[in-house]
Amino acid sequence: MQTTTEPRTTVYEPIPLEQGLRNYWYPIVQSPEVADKPVMVRCVSEDLVVWRDSKGTAYVFSDFCPHRATRLSNGHVQGDALQCIFHGLRFDGSGRCVMMPWEPDDSPALGRIRALAYPTEEVRGLIFAYLGDTEHFPAPPLQDELPAELWDDQYASYILPTEEYDCNWILSFEGMDKYHAAILHAYSALLGTGIAYEPGVDPVAATRGNRRMVLSRVPGRHRLEMQIYDLAGNFIGTGLDGDPDFVDEGNHLPTLNCLSVRPRQGGLPYHNLHWTIPIDTNRMRWLRYAGCKVTTPEERAEWDRFFHEVTLPRSRNIGLEDALVAVGQRSLAFARSHETLLGPDTGMARLRRLLENAHQAQAEGRRITPAEGRRFV
Ligand code: FES
Ligand SMILES: [Fe+2]
Repeated sequence: MQTTTEPRTTVYEPIPLEQGLRNYWYPIVQSPEVADKPVMVRCVSEDLVVWRDSKGTAYVFSDFCPHRATRLSNGHVQGDALQCIFHGLRFDGSGRCVMMPWEPDDSPALGRIRALAYPTEEVRGLIFAYLGDTEHFPAPPLQDELPAELWDDQYASYILPTEEYDCNWILSFEGMDKYHAAILHAYSALLGTGIAYEPGVDPVAATRGNRRMVLSRVPGRHRLEMQIYDLAGNFIGTGLDGDPDFVDEGNHLPTLNCLSVRPRQGGLPYHNLHWTIPIDTNRMRWLRYAGCKVTTPEERAEWDRFFHEVTLPRSRNIGLEDALVAVGQRSLAFARSHETLLGPDTGMARLRRLLENAHQAQAEGRRITPAEGRRFV
C-alpha cells in the first residue's frame, strides 16, 4: 500500500463548477408552490423534496429515503412528519426518524437512520435552503447573505413567474452585463430610454440594428451612464439612472444579480433581484423578485400599477431574449472554446474568476461569503 507524508490540501471535493456552487443559500421554490403535499424540485444537480408540516413550516430534504433510497417526494405529510411511501418510516423537519412501523417508539433503531435535511427558511414568498455540507461549511444566517431589504417592510415586492431554460447557469449568469441591454432589449426596453415608458409613444425610436452605445463613468459614483445613438450619430437617449443608494447592485455569490431600474425620470426606482439557479449542467431556473420602497399609499398604488402593467409583461419578453442568447451559446464548453473577449467583457471576466475562486476555495476548506465576493466584482 502506498503511503504519503504530504499534507492534505483537499478537505472537501466540490461537484464540478458547471453543475453549480454548493454550500450557499438558494431560493428553491416559490412559497405557494408547496401546500400539503411534498414537492420534488431539482437544484444544483440534486433532487430535493420540499414539504410543510401541520403548522406550515417548510423543510427541504435531499429526495431519498435513508432506508432503501426511494424518493421521499412520493411520500405523504403526516402531521409534523414526512412519511416514506415504501415501508412507512417517518421523519421530522430535522430529518430525525420519529417512527418505524415495526419498532416501538423508543426503539434505539430510530437513531440509526436520518433523512438529509438542509437548513431552510422562508422569506418574501420564496423558500430558501442552504444546499451544503454543514459539517465542513456550517450554514451562515440567511440574513447575512442576502440584501437587507428582503426583511424591510417598507419594500413592497412581487415574485415573478419562475422560468426554466436549457442552458448552463454560468452562461446565463454571465449574460447580465449592462452593455447588451440597449441592443438585445431594445424592444422590451426595461433598461431603455425614458420614452419607452410614456403612454402612447412608440418605445422603439430606432431599430435594433442601427443602435450604438457609449458608456461612461459618472464621476465619483462608480456607475455607468449609457448614451444611445443611431449609426448616423443622432442621440436616442440615456439609460436612466437607477437607484444611487442601492448598495447591493451587481453580482453576488452564488448566483444573484441585483439591478435597480428607474422607469422614468423622477419616478420611483425599483430593485430586481434575479437568481440563476443551476438545475443540471445544461438546464437552469430563474427566480426573480421586484421590490420598491414605498412610503405612502399613493406610492404603493403607483408601484402596483406599474408592476402589473409594465414590469410583468416586459420582464417576460426580456427573459425570452436573455434565454435566446444563453441557449444560443449552446454548451458551456462550446461557448468557452469559441469566444473572443472584448472591452465590455471585463466585468463578466471578473465574475467568472470569482466563481472559479469560490469553487477552488471550498476544495481548500475555505468558503468565500457573498460579502467577501463583492470585493472581486
Ligand atoms: S425505503 Fe423508505 S421506508 Fe423503506
Ligand atoms: Fe438581459
